[in-house]
Amino acid sequence: MSSVREPIDATQTAAWSALQVHADRLKSSEFSLARCFDEQPERASELSFDVGNLHIDLSKNLMTSKTVTLLADLARAVGLEERRDAMFAGEHINTTEDRAVLHTALRRPVSDAGTLMVDGQDVVADVHEVLHRMYEFARAVREGAWTGVSGKRIEHVLSIGIGGSDLGPVMVYEALKPYADAGIDCTFVSNIDPNDMAEKTKHLDPETTLVIVVSKTFTTLETLVNARTAKRWLLDSLYERGVLADTPEARAEAVAKHFVAVSTALDLVANFGIDPNNAFGFWNWVGGRYSVDSAVGLSLILALGPERFEEFLEGFREIDEYFVATPLEHNVVALMGLLNVWYTSFFGFTTHAVLPYNQYLHRFPAYLQQLTMESNGKHVRWDGTPVTSATGEIFWGEPGTNGQHAFYQLIHQGTQVIPADFIAFVNTPNPTCDGEQDVHELFLGNFLAQTKALAFGKSAEEVQKEGTPEWMVQARVFAGNRPTTSILGVDLTPHAIGALIALYEHITFVEGSVWGIDSYDQWGVELGKQMAKDITPAFSDDDALATQDASTRALIEFYRAHRR
Ligand code: F6P
Repeated sequence: MSSVREPIDATQTAAWSALQVHADRLKSSEFSLARCFDEQPERASELSFDVGNLHIDLSKNLMTSKTVTLLADLARAVGLEERRDAMFAGEHINTTEDRAVLHTALRRPVSDAGTLMVDGQDVVADVHEVLHRMYEFARAVREGAWTGVSGKRIEHVLSIGIGGSDLGPVMVYEALKPYADAGIDCTFVSNIDPNDMAEKTKHLDPETTLVIVVSKTFTTLETLVNARTAKRWLLDSLYERGVLADTPEARAEAVAKHFVAVSTALDLVANFGIDPNNAFGFWNWVGGRYSVDSAVGLSLILALGPERFEEFLEGFREIDEYFVATPLEHNVVALMGLLNVWYTSFFGFTTHAVLPYNQYLHRFPAYLQQLTMESNGKHVRWDGTPVTSATGEIFWGEPGTNGQHAFYQLIHQGTQVIPADFIAFVNTPNPTCDGEQDVHELFLGNFLAQTKALAFGKSAEEVQKEGTPEWMVQARVFAGNRPTTSILGVDLTPHAIGALIALYEHITFVEGSVWGIDSYDQWGVELGKQMAKDITPAFSDDDALATQDASTRALIEFYRAHRR
């Protein structure tokens, strides 16, 4: 299929040229959001969309209805819909790894079994076979039928993984803490820095801890080192407590009761010493950063239960179906991706803030950083030719209102324009009153105020009217026209977080498709990994030290001089 093998150069299309003219016109006419709203009273409703329980308002973006038309034209010109269909059908759109990209199959209903054969595999049937095994296992653990080696019920999950094998589960676990109903808490260790493991195992009871080693490849240095450390910690602690005999059989039994694994490389899991019966597989067509709804989400199933995980999958599915079925001009998922291209490629905005007004979503920006930046931080297209425009955005953020007291100054008045996504939910599981005042409404008032202030600003005239000394007026002026998207959900449920993740997965896909890049490989992480292997011996070996560049050598010499 030509859309897979040969990217269409978006910059050479008539749609791109039209967008360029349109962007120049908006810039030269000193586009004003305030004027747009005055002139077009129905702007808010025309540019707002409801998908599932999410209400998404694009109206405070630097766009007009013409922008929507032109962006949809661009999407069609680069074959976005064909590429989307190719992805859902399991074509190998991950060209540099020659793989299908089928995270969308992870949430297809069991009734779809037999309808998606990829590389000889009945993808949906296999997905449900693993889901079924995970649900059975989780039920046994949650009900106390599966215990630790001393017979105690499992109360802690220690999940070891990094990148996509960590960020998704942590983020969703944090987001759905109110739904953790079986007395099982999860702790996540990712960093190879020994401080991470040391601090996080301090409060854990080894007799009631289940360790999940999560690694797609089962070769990742950090995860394997941490898994070995966890094994030592668990076995030593059980032995010191007198609940484990010092025999190979007793140790093997303890590992069997306290260690499970999630991986695509089940042979390597077995080599590590984890019983293959306690391993849950997934497939190379699931990218690490797209894997939270695969077996990688096992910790979530343990903490929240199979029923909640099913609701989580339904949230993804709802967005998938909407993304496939909705015409581009009305498809908010596609439009959000296209708007990001609009800002990056036509306005030169380089960063994008994600600002959840919900403390439970405090890891959402970190999760999105991997999803978006590992996917679209590329300098060549999927056929190996150089990209023809700026690609990738730097995603960053913190929950509101904390960010308001830290970096919002720059978003409001800095010289860089930073498009921002504001995310909030109508209801809270923790309603609280401060006197007569509903605290959640105080919070949501801030959510609304920030997007309003960013869009409409405050003019010099308004500042002068307040009696501000003339020399200080400009310091208090807000230019406005700072673009924001508001995403307002009803409740932060398993369904809603699934939908939110799928939304950003597809936004990332849309951007990559327009730029012609393979959003599913990650060669950019390899060089540093390789160099770390080469450098580490130089801490103690002079020959290895001598091969280093002067700067690295000097740093290692400093280390050697001060090492205790
Ligand atoms: O180094 C990057 C990366 O390959 C990510 O893409 C991946 O999510 C992470 O490492 C962890 O990989 P694995 O799941 O194979 O341990």
